[in-house]
Amino acid sequence: MHRIAAFVFLAILSWTLPSFGKDVSGRWRLLRHTDDGNTLETFLEIKQQGSHISGTLLVAWGNLLISDGRLQDHDISFTVSIAPTYAFRFTGKVDGNEMQLIQYDPNVGSFPVSGIRMKENESTSPARLPLPDLRELPDNGLARTPPMGWNSWNFFHDKIDDSTVRQIADAMVASGMRAAGYVYLNIDDTWQGQRDTAGLIQPNKKFPNMKALADYVHSKGLKLGIYSSPGPRTCGSYEGSYGHEEQDANTFAEWGIDYLKYDWCSAFRIYQDSEMRAVYQKMGDALIRTRRPIVYSLCQYGKEDVWRWGKLVSGNLWRTTGDIRDNAASMFSNAEAELELAPWAEPGHWNDPDMLEVGNGSMSAEEYRTHLTLWSVLAAPLIAGNDIRNMTAETRETLTNSEVIAVDQDRLGKQGRRVLKRGDIEIWTRPLAGDAVAIALINMGSDDTSLSLEWKQLGIDDVAVARDLWKHQDLPQKASRYAGTIVGHGCVLIRVQRQHGSSS
Ligand code: GLA
Repeated sequence: MHRIAAFVFLAILSWTLPSFGKDVSGRWRLLRHTDDGNTLETFLEIKQQGSHISGTLLVAWGNLLISDGRLQDHDISFTVSIAPTYAFRFTGKVDGNEMQLIQYDPNVGSFPVSGIRMKENESTSPARLPLPDLRELPDNGLARTPPMGWNSWNFFHDKIDDSTVRQIADAMVASGMRAAGYVYLNIDDTWQGQRDTAGLIQPNKKFPNMKALADYVHSKGLKLGIYSSPGPRTCGSYEGSYGHEEQDANTFAEWGIDYLKYDWCSAFRIYQDSEMRAVYQKMGDALIRTRRPIVYSLCQYGKEDVWRWGKLVSGNLWRTTGDIRDNAASMFSNAEAELELAPWAEPGHWNDPDMLEVGNGSMSAEEYRTHLTLWSVLAAPLIAGNDIRNMTAETRETLTNSEVIAVDQDRLGKQGRRVLKRGDIEIWTRPLAGDAVAIALINMGSDDTSLSLEWKQLGIDDVAVARDLWKHQDLPQKASRYAGTIVGHGCVLIRVQRQHGSSS
């Protein structure tokens, strides 16, 4: 009996008290050395109870709870769930004030991370700097139609470098993407190196000479875009523009940059969400003062009703959602997030449901056509996100369909709306210049569905020509209606021309 009591007592003691000399509770700075020459920082706040560890991983874009945390002797392990099917796994050894971990990220693979225990008074973010008073910045006069181009993130993530961007530039020309209107080549996160002693941002090893790269891209009749964050760190933990906004805007202008995507990320550690307008105004103002035409892309995931103030900070486009994924559910939900946002789009100022996934492999050809259809009806920026060097003929045809692109780029600049929903079928319409209308018939369900629809039911009379923009042919039914089957997750995109309009 005594033995049992002693055992229970010891078990409780070992569970409630950290084992002597091995208390890992506290804050840790985690460092990862990347091949591009950076040391990327995240933070770990942990609490140990016996062999159980709980706590939070502080990454640039958020605080993530750790689960399955264990400490056995010197062996430590824990999991950080990002999404239901996506998690980081950490395993390694702790020795006093240091730990050596292997982080497994399903997207990237395994890499070593070293941890150093932080002192009580050490902070995880720099001190707050003042923000400007709110005012209305002038329109920069750019992006009269939604910007078109390409961005490195969706396909390449951190595997983007100078030579790949040059190859993409060549492929944009050779594939007909440039001719179709895709002119901005945008380098996303992970190009950054350190700042020099004067505070000037330097690119990392992957981008030996940003100005020379811009010259090359310009020589191909394309424009170069870049990426930064108003926070100290980008979402990938690279150097952000915090405290260097004006300096970075000037550096970008000197390099010959034509487009900036400015991603909130770690700014949440410094500012309140309610201060976003002032934060974005700071960079908007700096960009205008460079006197170089630089398209300003706001990326803060649609927080704080950005559509109400995006243009006042000189923004040309603003993200309306979190990140798109290469699947139909994500594509549909990003489109539907813009149901109420049509009034806020106009020439120079666009709602951005995020970059295209067309050609990235996890959706069907039909679904990718639906993706481009929805984006065109939404007057969304068309920023391709695939490997242009190796795309199939089908992907190329989807992306470069000039009749669909003409809908996206319509000079009226009016965003379309959903006007009818019948079961899984949704009808979206967009008014076009020259008394025409784009009508998208979308099957949100996975079963093929037949549909018969008179244009009159949509309030559209006097139709002279109705043209199927994916089939490149006029409809036969005397232009008065559509009748046919729409495959699961597929669509039909029709341009109807009224009698008295002109297609010019
Ligand atoms: C955020 C953005 C993405 C991409 C990554 C890069 O998640 O929303 O589009 O820029 O950051 O780290």
